Amino acid sequence: MKKYLADLVVSANEKLHPNYYLLKLTQDTPFPEMLPGQFVELKVENSPATFLRRPISINYIDKEKNELWLLIQVIGDGTKKLSELKNGEIVNLMYPLGNSFSIPKEKISKKLLLIGGGVGTAPMLFLGTDLKRFGYEPVFLLGARTSKDLLQLDMFQKFGTVYTTTEDGSAGEKGYVTNHSILQKEDFEMIYTCGPKPMMVAVAQYAKALGIPCEVSLENLMACGIGACLCCVENTVDGHICACMEGPVINIEKLTWQI
Ligand code: FES
Repeated sequence: MKKYLADLVVSANEKLHPNYYLLKLTQDTPFPEMLPGQFVELKVENSPATFLRRPISINYIDKEKNELWLLIQVIGDGTKKLSELKNGEIVNLMYPLGNSFSIPKEKISKKLLLIGGGVGTAPMLFLGTDLKRFGYEPVFLLGARTSKDLLQLDMFQKFGTVYTTTEDGSAGEKGYVTNHSILQKEDFEMIYTCGPKPMMVAVAQYAKALGIPCEVSLENLMACGIGACLCCVENTVDGHICACMEGPVINIEKLTWQI
């Protein structure tokens, strides 16, 4: 897939949470095709401590407004600078990068479960919009520490059924995503997940035990995004892969995790 290097204009930068911002970028011409699971590499200006671009999952494409949405978790100087971007400022982007989640070919009645935690909910929204476009009814299961950490619920509800868990029980069911009662009530035929590694390992274990096909989006450290620096290497049953090129999406059958 062709990659682009472009200067995009900030059309909004909304604070969703003390640590999360929704950065919306636009340009005069329509965006090229992007697939759920793919990511962008953002250049951070005016940050001497930040030499490398920041990899950010694609969260949503607003075709009407010609906007690309990115959910930014503020975890260091680079992402702090991104959170401070103002409307009209310019951001340089390399995109779209990496592979994508697979959309089941055979129609339909397939029950598809999308499990996200933390900033890993971002690609689940984009995937849900694409599944909906293909006629599926995605089920989202979103996990967070507290109700305040559950982000973009209104957007998820537009594209599917939403279930939540929180560690303190302040919203949804108390506990972790893999304890949610929906897993006992429904027979899912495909699971997609992105979030903290312990969560993805637990989801992969659940899927494997029940023989449900499952794809995870690896959150490996990434710097160049184009297979040059090797900082994102993941060991798989087929040998080492660059998560930025042959991932970030990978079927759990290929992983060497203890699942
Ligand atoms: Fe550099 Fe993958 S991020 S090789």
